[in-house]
Amino acid sequence: MPEEASLSPVLNENISFKPPGDFSKNAHASDDAIYHLAQTDRLAFWESQAEQLHWFKKWDRVLEWEEPYARWFVGGKINIAYNCLDRHLSSWRRNKAAIIWEGEKGEQRVLTYFDLHREVCKFANVLEQKFGVQEGDRVTIYMPMIPELAIAMLACVRIGAAHSIIFGGFSAESISDRVADCQSSLLITADGGYRAGKVIALKNIVDKALAVDGSPVKDVIVVAHIGAEAGVQHNTGRDHYYHELMADSPARHEARPLDSEALAFLLYTSGTTGKPKGIMHSTGGYLTGVTYTAKYVFDLKEDDVYWCTADIGWITGHSYIVYGPLSNGATTLMYEGAPGYPGKDRFWSIVAKYGVTLLYTAPTAIRTFMSWGDDYPAKHDLTSLRLLGTVGEPINPKAWLWYHEKIGGGNCPIVDTWWQTETGNIMISPLPGVTPTKPGSATHALPGIEAEVVDDQGQPVARGQAGLLIIKSPWPAMLRGIYGDPDRYKQTYWSRFPGVYFTGDGAQLDSEGYIWLLGRVDDVINVSGHRLGTMEVESACVDHAFVSEAAAIGVAHEIKGQTIVVFVSLTAEHTGEASASEEIRQHVAAKIGAFARPEKVIITQELPKTRSGKIMRRLLRDIADGKVIGDTTTLADSSIIGSLKEKYEKLEA
Ligand code: PRX
Repeated sequence: MPEEASLSPVLNENISFKPPGDFSKNAHASDDAIYHLAQTDRLAFWESQAEQLHWFKKWDRVLEWEEPYARWFVGGKINIAYNCLDRHLSSWRRNKAAIIWEGEKGEQRVLTYFDLHREVCKFANVLEQKFGVQEGDRVTIYMPMIPELAIAMLACVRIGAAHSIIFGGFSAESISDRVADCQSSLLITADGGYRAGKVIALKNIVDKALAVDGSPVKDVIVVAHIGAEAGVQHNTGRDHYYHELMADSPARHEARPLDSEALAFLLYTSGTTGKPKGIMHSTGGYLTGVTYTAKYVFDLKEDDVYWCTADIGWITGHSYIVYGPLSNGATTLMYEGAPGYPGKDRFWSIVAKYGVTLLYTAPTAIRTFMSWGDDYPAKHDLTSLRLLGTVGEPINPKAWLWYHEKIGGGNCPIVDTWWQTETGNIMISPLPGVTPTKPGSATHALPGIEAEVVDDQGQPVARGQAGLLIIKSPWPAMLRGIYGDPDRYKQTYWSRFPGVYFTGDGAQLDSEGYIWLLGRVDDVINVSGHRLGTMEVESACVDHAFVSEAAAIGVAHEIKGQTIVVFVSLTAEHTGEASASEEIRQHVAAKIGAFARPEKVIITQELPKTRSGKIMRRLLRDIADGKVIGDTTTLADSSIIGSLKEKYEKLEA
């Protein structure tokens, strides 16, 4: 490991790794011809990618762009499930493993393309015939990482119903908010899931979520994954067991030809307000984007065993566990449980057990593995690996180099992939057979994607400078809007600079034009790759009876990337409550989900405010980062800062 890069998270543009020669030679892209192709005629390039899919009817026009609304492959008819399943059945892939599943207890299930197709068809019939689900309906899914989750998703898109998947770590209240926002009358769940040896009783959380007045959910389908241990209560009339519904469901089902622009799914993500946004994704454009990027970024080949360790409840799982790999006819591995269970070598034992060739994970996981020590990966044969990927947050060079050396044995290219729930597919990433990589840089925009780093005025920054990351022109998998909130869509993404998509991320160009992501520039926090709005956390805090006001900030953390620190003032009658910090932490976890639990809650008599009453979060960040406190001249009462700093330092010690 080069000494100068071993610790520093700062840009070190001089260390670079060329793609290994034999990797390049055999890669889908081995030179920059694909970049030239896309540059010469971007729309023709995207058409050539769309042509890799099966269309019931070809499109009339490739793009209609009425800023900020794009319509791709207009007039085309297509079905995502048909492309992920049916079209492989007429080839030798019929008996190829589509999904390899490993349960936390070590159980194993393999579904071939034929098996998966059968299950999806049966479930599509259940949805249509037993619940009257139709094209355009919204179906909420809240499930653990089991094959039935992928089956449910594929069955929805097969009939044209949009799924809205809620990550299994979210709370009852988060479910009821999302269900109400998209008005889904059907919810699919499981009795529970396993996580680090514990049962997470998902169905009980769902029951709580649906107990609110006016819940639109009329029916709940429950997969019996755990059994009696889950302690599920059956709500007769509303709850239905998956296996009972499937028992007599016919295995033949025609995939519905859907409009290219049909809503494929909603996925709620955090923004700068307290209310999560339902990001809308299309059918034809989305599938084109994920099929293309999965193939080229991961260099997916027929005999690969590809493992993306994300949860399907996040966009990474949608695009790169399910749709991208299956559309390419790949073998995708799904693991249900925790990375450290039962031993800290679980991931590596899975890699060795299945001969995983492509591994896609998050920087926070890599840093955790690093902190556990080199012995765990060293216990296993990882030589099947030929490519590694990361996603979700900037990766520090030290973690990158560890991943490269200890997991990749020094000869796997690493693809650091930058993208977002909104972008649908990977946007900035090396092409593993083409791009020399630099630890910590996501390198360049992919062919077909026009990214730029600009200054405050929207002007491109010079090499060596930092600025804001924008996407200059529409791309097929881009979001189509925020469900039920067109104004917020325009305001959030298209108002900062006219006509271009604003990502909310800062970035820097190095002297060779490589892009280095610098994190969010808005009020979004990235905790272990999970996205949260500061306002969301603050609303959860002030919901607690003790709390009068709250200010949440993201603070750098060695493993998690960022953690949440909240400064709160208590109401007069609760000032002095000894248990307040802990209670507020628990309250936030209960309101949003355990992953949102603040690392620290600092109780203060008052928050630092301007004379006009605005909380100065900038100063709170300075305190938490241990920096020299910035300009305090606009503070109404500057004495607050000194006492807060003291409190914070005491807590740190
Ligand atoms: O800040 C960027 C960060 O994650 C944000 C998107 O979060 P989400 O919509 O939850 O999607 C995460 C998985 C695609 C971005 O705005 N981010 C994602 N990937 C990277 C990253 N930051 C730096 N480097 C990355 N590779």
